[in-house]
Amino acid sequence: MKRRPFLGILASLGLAAAASKAHAKVEKNPPLEDEELKKALDHPDPSRALLQRPTKDSISVAWSVERPSAGWVEWGTTPDLGNIARSSVGGLNVFDERFLSAKIEGLQPGTTYYYRTVTQGMEFIRYGKLFAGDPVYGEVNTFTTADETADTAKFAIFSDTHETIPYLQALAKRIDEFEPECVIWNGDHLNDTNSADQAIKGILKAADTPWNSNRPAFLTGGNHDHRGPWARKLTQIFLPQNETCPKYHQLIYNFAYRIGPVAIIGLDTGEDKPDFHPIWSGLSNFDAMRVLQAEWLEETLNRPEIASAPFVVAACHIPLYAKDPNANPGEILDGWAYWQRRCAELWTPVLNKYKVQVVVTGHLHNPIKAEMADENRGWVQMHGGAGEEKNRTIILGQIENGRLVMRRENLTKGEVDEELFFDPRS
Ligand SMILES: [Fe+2]
Ligand SMILES: [Fe+2]
Repeated sequence: MKRRPFLGILASLGLAAAASKAHAKVEKNPPLEDEELKKALDHPDPSRALLQRPTKDSISVAWSVERPSAGWVEWGTTPDLGNIARSSVGGLNVFDERFLSAKIEGLQPGTTYYYRTVTQGMEFIRYGKLFAGDPVYGEVNTFTTADETADTAKFAIFSDTHETIPYLQALAKRIDEFEPECVIWNGDHLNDTNSADQAIKGILKAADTPWNSNRPAFLTGGNHDHRGPWARKLTQIFLPQNETCPKYHQLIYNFAYRIGPVAIIGLDTGEDKPDFHPIWSGLSNFDAMRVLQAEWLEETLNRPEIASAPFVVAACHIPLYAKDPNANPGEILDGWAYWQRRCAELWTPVLNKYKVQVVVTGHLHNPIKAEMADENRGWVQMHGGAGEEKNRTIILGQIENGRLVMRRENLTKGEVDEELFFDPRS
């Protein structure tokens, strides 16, 4: 465009003076001359992406950085990507010291997408003094959106990793082999939740493969995940599930996800001690959360895509049943809960009513045999393992010949130690 006609157009709009001024002086940040800082800005050290919160047409990504940075996600239906997703609130794109996230929207069901994170280290001293490094590109990963009409489904559940790196690496290896459509972290991934560094090490940088980047991951929340001063910030890694729901926004880890004929429900059993326990000094309010979850569970099991699922698997950290009538029910000051009686009383009638077939739990650090359904409890309770070498297990679920098969594998021994079959709900 030639300058004269351009100014003529602006003049007709009364904007010529503004255009001249814009050419006279453009505000900009000063050049970066500090070589040390430039090097640091170019190395924000992003973690691998944690893919999560899938909905019918969207999915979210979170990752960590080691210095203040901005970031976004490039995505598309081919490795050429072509679209950008940025997290933006109130006109401000995300900029954070440790955690970045983005939500990809406009997805179609049963479709494979490619994506990568892009991280840009920044030193933001004040407006007018901001230095930005070169963009750092993550590897291109893929994910496939769920298809409710598919007749297959594959998922993986594990718990109680407690920052045990060899266990996490064994899980990553098996998940990369099995290629489930989603993974459920069924609680106690941290030894109490004290800092961002600890959470990054125990979750985002626990294993160096894309095991949580190529499929959505969910967290159910274990007692140790709720403990410690940083527990309130864990949602920077596992983003809050129901944040836009006026009624259930405080249920940060509750989820329901339908893959093929299987619906997976995530429930949060909270701490393994009562709210009045002195160790909490009044900082816990899990009972209200358990009550609210009973309502959420009823509504969720009635959602069309969940109600129509032939199989429903629930996952929660603390068991909802104990064979031993004297086992600690989580309502006393002594010791810790072997099972969660309050959750069992609130949720079992709903689980029974909707014929949920199996509840997968953790917490005991002991992969004991499943407890079969009885006259009071319509669901089977299946137990996960833990970080101790002999107890390192993973539960793998898939559809075989029209039935749901849940196999628990001992990763140390390399063998299946439990196998359960479920017929469709009638
Ligand atoms: Fe644990
Ligand atoms: Fe636990």
